This record gives sequence, C-alpha cells and structure tokens, in this order.
Amino acid sequence: MPTAADWIQRAREELAQLRIPELRATGILPHGDQFLPVVSYPPITMYPKVDGAELLASEPDPPPQVTAAYVHVPFCARGCSYCHWVKKINPSAGDIDDYIDTVTLEMDLALARLGRASIPVSTCLFGGGTPTLPSPAQLDRLISAFRARFPLDACRQFSFEAEPGNLLGPQGRERLRVLKDHGVQRISMGVQSFDDAILTRMGRTHTARQALDAITAIHDAGIESVSIDLIYGYLGLTVEHWIRTMQIALSSGADAWHLYRLRIKRYGEVQGQVLDEYIEAPEDNPEAERVWLMKMLGQVMSVDHGYDQHFTRIFCRDRSHITEFMWDYCCEVSDVVGTGPSAWSNYHRTFTMNWGSRMDTWRESVHAGRMPVERGIFRDPETEARRSFLLPLKNDRVLKRKFERRTGLNVDAHLGPELARLQGLGLLDQDERAVWLTPRGRFFADETMWQLTQKRWVPFPEIQHPLMPE
Ligand SMILES: C[S@@+](CC[C@H](N)C(=O)[O-])C[C@H]1O[C@@H](n2cnc3c(N)ncnc32)[C@H](O)[C@@H]1O
Ligand code: SF4
Repeated sequence: MPTAADWIQRAREELAQLRIPELRATGILPHGDQFLPVVSYPPITMYPKVDGAELLASEPDPPPQVTAAYVHVPFCARGCSYCHWVKKINPSAGDIDDYIDTVTLEMDLALARLGRASIPVSTCLFGGGTPTLPSPAQLDRLISAFRARFPLDACRQFSFEAEPGNLLGPQGRERLRVLKDHGVQRISMGVQSFDDAILTRMGRTHTARQALDAITAIHDAGIESVSIDLIYGYLGLTVEHWIRTMQIALSSGADAWHLYRLRIKRYGEVQGQVLDEYIEAPEDNPEAERVWLMKMLGQVMSVDHGYDQHFTRIFCRDRSHITEFMWDYCCEVSDVVGTGPSAWSNYHRTFTMNWGSRMDTWRESVHAGRMPVERGIFRDPETEARRSFLLPLKNDRVLKRKFERRTGLNVDAHLGPELARLQGLGLLDQDERAVWLTPRGRFFADETMWQLTQKRWVPFPEIQHPLMPE
C-alpha cells in the first residue's frame, strides 16, 4: 500500500516530465494563482445582451430532430462558500411548486418555437442548484412534465445532480425510488471533500460519513452509476488532506469522480463568498505549484487504481460512467435544449443564455409567453469553426473529416500555424486523421485552449495581479 510520501514522489516525477518551468517561460501559464477555465466558446460572459425573440427568429436552420436536454433546478438548502451557480437558498414548498409550473411552461415555449409537440432526447441532465432538493412528489411532477415533452426512448443516459443529505433517511430513499422509476441511470453528487473540517469551511450541509452513506444508498436503489465531485486547491486544503480524500474516494464505491480546481473568481454573474475569504487570508490559498501537485496526485492515484481519464477532469472505472450529456455537447457539438433560470440552449449556430441570476425576470418572461433569453449570438463561420474545434479538442479529440463536414473548412488550412505553435510546445499532436492533446496539453488543457480562443498568440503579461478583472 503506497504511503502519502510515495504518492507525492510519484506525482512529482510525473510533473517533472511536463517541464513546467520551460512552459512558464513561453507565457502560456497565467501568473500567480490565476485560473481561467475554458468551458465554452466564446466564454458565456462574452455573449452580448440580445432580444431573444429577434435572435431566435433569425435562425435559418431547421429545428433539431433529436437533442440533448438540460434542466436547471435553482434551489439549495444552504449556499456553499465557493459556489457561483445560480440558486435560491432555502426555498419554500410554494417556491418550488411555482418553479415547476414555470419551467413546464418554458418547455412548451421552447417546443413551440421549434414547431414541435415533443423532441426525443439523446441524453439529459438535471443540474443545479440542487435538483434533489424538491420533495419526492415534486420531483415526480417535474420529471413527468419533462418526459411528456422530451421522450426518453432514445436517451442514452439520464443524469441527475444531487447533494448527499437529500438522499438519506426515508425521504432520501423515496427520492431515489422516484428517480429510479423515471429511468435515472447516473447520479452526479457534490461531495467536494472527505474531510469534515474542510466541509464545514465550505459551508456544506453534510459530513464525509453521510457522503459515503449516500453513495451506498444510490447503488442500493438500483441506480447504476455514481459520480462524485471533488474540489482541490481549496483554501486551507493541504496536500495530505487531498491525498486522504482521494484514498477515501478510491474505497467509497463511487464509479467516477470529477476533479475540480477551485475557482475563486466568478464565472457569470454570481460571486461565491470564497473571494472575501481569499482577500482576508490570501496565505491560505495554495500557490500554483501546490495546486498542480494536487491535480497530479488526483490523476496518478485514479489511473493507478484503474480509473481512466476522460474529458481531462473526469476519472471513471469504465467508459459507461462518463457523462454522456457532456459528450454530446462537447465532443459531438450537438444541439442542447436548456430550460430553467440559468440554462443555455444551442440550436445549430444559435446560442442563447437564460436570465441567470435574475430569476424573477426569467419567471416574468415565461409567464408573458416570451423565451426568457438574456444573452446570445448567431455564430459567424469563424466563431463556429473555433467552437467546433475547441470543444472536441479539450474533451476528446478532433477528427479532421468530421470538422470539415461540420464547418466546410479544412483544419490544416484554417488553423495550421496556430496548431504548429502548440505542437512545437508539446501540447498537442496530430496525424492526417485527428488532433489531440498530449499528456502535457491535457494537464494544461485550459491554458492550451486559452491560446486557441483567438488567432493571435496572446501570452500572459509578466506581472498580473491575481484579482485583476478578466
Ligand atoms: C452545480 S454543482 C452540483 C452539485 C450539488 N449542487 C452539490 O453541490 O452537492 C456542480 C459542481 O461544481 C463544482 N463547483 C462549483 N463551484 C466551484 C468553484 N468555485 N470552483 C470549483 N468547483 C466548483 C462543485 O464540485 C459542484 O459539485
Ligand atoms: S455547490 Fe451545490 S449545494 Fe452548494 S451552493 Fe452550489 S449548487 Fe448549491
């Protein structure tokens, strides 16, 4: 059984192979403790405010025949210190009932706009917020409304995000029964840490023991796949804490985990209170080298135990435990119909983002019969090409013929010099069929993608304050 010291040595050896100082000298790594994840393209905050009706009316392409679906459930029992997601804390039963009525109306609006009575889904995800917070009866009503409009016959995977406390005790068992009866196959649960002191500091409502019990409860309910979210780089989290959390994850019975690096600065409109904590005690924030050590520890401890890496940050026993929703929108670059206050949708080249933190505006729009869209764009061919390249590259690989069929462009002719530069830095590799990230590029996937978000080579300046606005 390797000790913590063995794992640290192993991770340091792997990090040495990435030759980080050499990469740093190119300016590709943000300075200090900045971390700029590239999860969509263009970044969601860069989409202009639009008149939703006008934008949607201008879409020239035919409506999708099959689509991935996302439902945003915007409620949590308590706010976690780091969380940027849109949510209302401690809602009443009436708030949740009203949300279910409104989101059902929004589903009808989305279908009416596409001229369809229903659309079969390829995959679907209910996310949050905490989609397991509603009562069992409310969950039944919400999922029934969804399934009546978005049939699951061709659905490869039905996923639900969850919080451990909601899945325990008689009510928890009842919630799991409802989910199982509706065909939920995968639960993605926020665990964050198996250290109770860190969980308290994060403002989580559960203990490590309860998270473990919830994993068992999900499997006992007959739901095949449990994925857990864990955060590294959290304020005050030591390397030893992280190794302990990974060791517990490995024996927890979870089938997969998503390893998230703490993001302190907001993404979108909501700022977690972790920024205040950072400003008060910046010395608690692990410096970049320590964060990379934790990241590498997560990687080697998972892979050595047979949990393969997918989408750069997900590790699972076998491919059946990946998130098919993410596969569809990142690797297939498929259509997504999103409903709920901060959901986004994509139909062909049109991207729309709902009203986000302004939940009342979302509600008013829907009840007035208007699509509740705040931002969006109709992508021009260059933006479309970059998105069709970046998302599959970061999350899997780009098949050149597929890219060409999708965009009408040749990868080498269109992106040749940019790819050659990144290839020269050992971040990606290619042959006549495909382009993929190397182990170095996968480790620094966000930093590599950052350079592909524009044609120009834009290294980070020598000195950049970590809290500088983006
Ligand atoms: C919408 S949450 C869903 C899970 C569920 N609400 C819960 O927390 O139990 C998705 C995941 O994003 C991750 N996350 C949220 N804010 C983050 C941040 N600031 N930095 C890193 N990861 C974050 C957390 O791991 C969280 O579980
Ligand atoms: S991490 Fe999950 S439970 Fe915590 S506030 Fe965010 S959405 Fe809610």
